[in-house]
Amino acid sequence: MRKKIVAGNWKMNNDLAETEMFLVDLKKQVFPENVIIMMAPPFTSLNHAFKSLREHPVELAAQNMHQSNEGAFTGEISAKMLKSVGAKTVILGHSERRAFFNEDSAVLAEKVNTALENDMGIIFCIGEELDDRKKGNHFELIKRQLSEGLFHVSDDAWENIVIAYEPVWAIGTGETASPEQAQEMHKFIRKTISESYSKAIAEKVSILYGGSVKPDNASEIFGQADVDGGLIGGASLKVDSFMKIVNSF
Ligand code: G3P
Repeated sequence: MRKKIVAGNWKMNNDLAETEMFLVDLKKQVFPENVIIMMAPPFTSLNHAFKSLREHPVELAAQNMHQSNEGAFTGEISAKMLKSVGAKTVILGHSERRAFFNEDSAVLAEKVNTALENDMGIIFCIGEELDDRKKGNHFELIKRQLSEGLFHVSDDAWENIVIAYEPVWAIGTGETASPEQAQEMHKFIRKTISESYSKAIAEKVSILYGGSVKPDNASEIFGQADVDGGLIGGASLKVDSFMKIVNSF
């Protein structure tokens, strides 16, 4: 049975006071037992959220980390620092990191290695641009993102890895992929993992969908055979919408 996961990627939203307001409401919720819930606030709120949620089944994730463990990298954050403030997982390869911060597969492969060396969970993001899809290149691109950024890891490493398929054209646009589109790509991703590793590994990996997931579309998307949950942006910023999505399985 694969893990069902709903992770909220807050991106660059909510200062400490706004985070505290969110947490006060979140801690009043009743959480389903069969879903792993994660939240990825900005670095500045990680430790506060970790301490606040100690008695609640919500894990903390970081939105990024540097590939080095320490050193002269002004403004950067290391895996060790993230673990020290309560982050168990790190999101890597998000399309916004790839696009705005020039994170290519080589850098991402290094970040994957560092996260694994520090025993952190990884949510590895992949996804095509609309132009790739229109040209029919989306499967080839997804396969390349996986092979160049992730497929160097050992079989054992997959215990710590979750994939997030986030078609870039669906992120923040309200243009959600259809359940059929999501299932088609998730099935392809699982097949690609199976071909490079094994069917057993591929069947165990949780593959999340991200890109305009909302309370009114989550259930149909999460109901697809190869969709194991979601990586949620905008809808994770309000407890009400986030919890509706968490309860959408
Ligand atoms: O990482 C999740 C994010 O990229 C999806 O954003 O706002 O379309 O749910 P959104």
